[in-house]
Amino acid sequence: MGIERLIRPDLANFSGYSASTSPDTLEGKVEVPVESIIKLDANENPYGCSPGVNQALAAYPSFGVYPDAGQTKLRKLLAGYANIAPEHIVASSGSNRLIDLILRLFVEAGDEVINCVPTFDIYRFSTRICGGTLVEVLRDEDFAVNIKAVKAAITKRTKIIFLANPNNPTGNVIPQKDILEIVDTGVPVVVDEAYYEFSGETVVPLVSQYENLMVLRTFSKWAGLAGLRIGYGIFPPKIADYLLAIEMPYSISMAALVAVQESLKDIDYLMGRVKAIIAERERLFAELKKLRFLKPYPSQANFILCAVLNGEARELWQKLQNRGILVRYFDKPLLRNFIRISAGKPEHTDALIRVLREVEETSG
Ligand SMILES: Cc1ncc(COP(=O)(O)O)c(C=O)c1O
Repeated sequence: MGIERLIRPDLANFSGYSASTSPDTLEGKVEVPVESIIKLDANENPYGCSPGVNQALAAYPSFGVYPDAGQTKLRKLLAGYANIAPEHIVASSGSNRLIDLILRLFVEAGDEVINCVPTFDIYRFSTRICGGTLVEVLRDEDFAVNIKAVKAAITKRTKIIFLANPNNPTGNVIPQKDILEIVDTGVPVVVDEAYYEFSGETVVPLVSQYENLMVLRTFSKWAGLAGLRIGYGIFPPKIADYLLAIEMPYSISMAALVAVQESLKDIDYLMGRVKAIIAERERLFAELKKLRFLKPYPSQANFILCAVLNGEARELWQKLQNRGILVRYFDKPLLRNFIRISAGKPEHTDALIRVLREVEETSG
């Protein structure tokens, strides 16, 4: 027994978050050069960021100076975009970071967090790290949230309810009246709108009417800034103050601030790309539907979940990876034999469908 005896016992057997694959790590392991890998495994933006971001970053003169820890300018910019007053806004280095921050603000050891599974795994990951107890409420067979079951799962120790809208990895949205029924319980509710620009569904205008409604957003998806790490939330002002008080100073890099500023100058361009991705999602859905061995689920986000009806999802994932196409596979109790495919550019869909047709033909 060495250093292990000093590690928190509740984290001794902790299974971390299985993140997406970086193409660099596949050098020599796939049949195509790394530069030709088609990355459809992390719901990133295939068009990348606004060209103005690259230009502004190249020209920025003061990376040697710390950014404003109070986020003054950033909060104003984000408030303008979200159409709400700046005192509601808190930003951080990715919305994942805000999930963690919220949990650290509310959850003590033994407190409960309700998760509508299957859903985004970071909610489990951070709850566990905070010492919270996960209470999992099953979605129905079309992945709709079971509102009655969520309400029945609430106890005196419930501190947070997570609702991803649209949900990752299933892609479906929750009707607003259902969200409000949960908010009306008074328990703090986090509505994660990471894919808002693709779904058009939001409860942000309602945040100022409730003291327990929080909304998370990100620049990773619609604005193509996943690699720069910038997310934000819209909170009741009291909660925003507490979150700012416990946030690590300088958590948002100057580069991220510059990137937000430039992205918001170029919303029309970026939303044009979002439109193209939505159109591609619909074409991808139609093409996947023609394959007998896959069952795609309708999605309001920038990805599509498919049940693998014939064969193993893991094997399919491996075959696609060998051919240089990265997707995500799931093989766990609530998602047995599924793959999730991000919507890419038209040529990505073409390449993917070609390989999937081959797989269908060769497996009979
Ligand atoms: C539902 C959901 N929330 C949050 C995130 C994380 O986004 P960020 O890159 O801002 O940390 C993701 C990313 O996949 C997501 O799917």
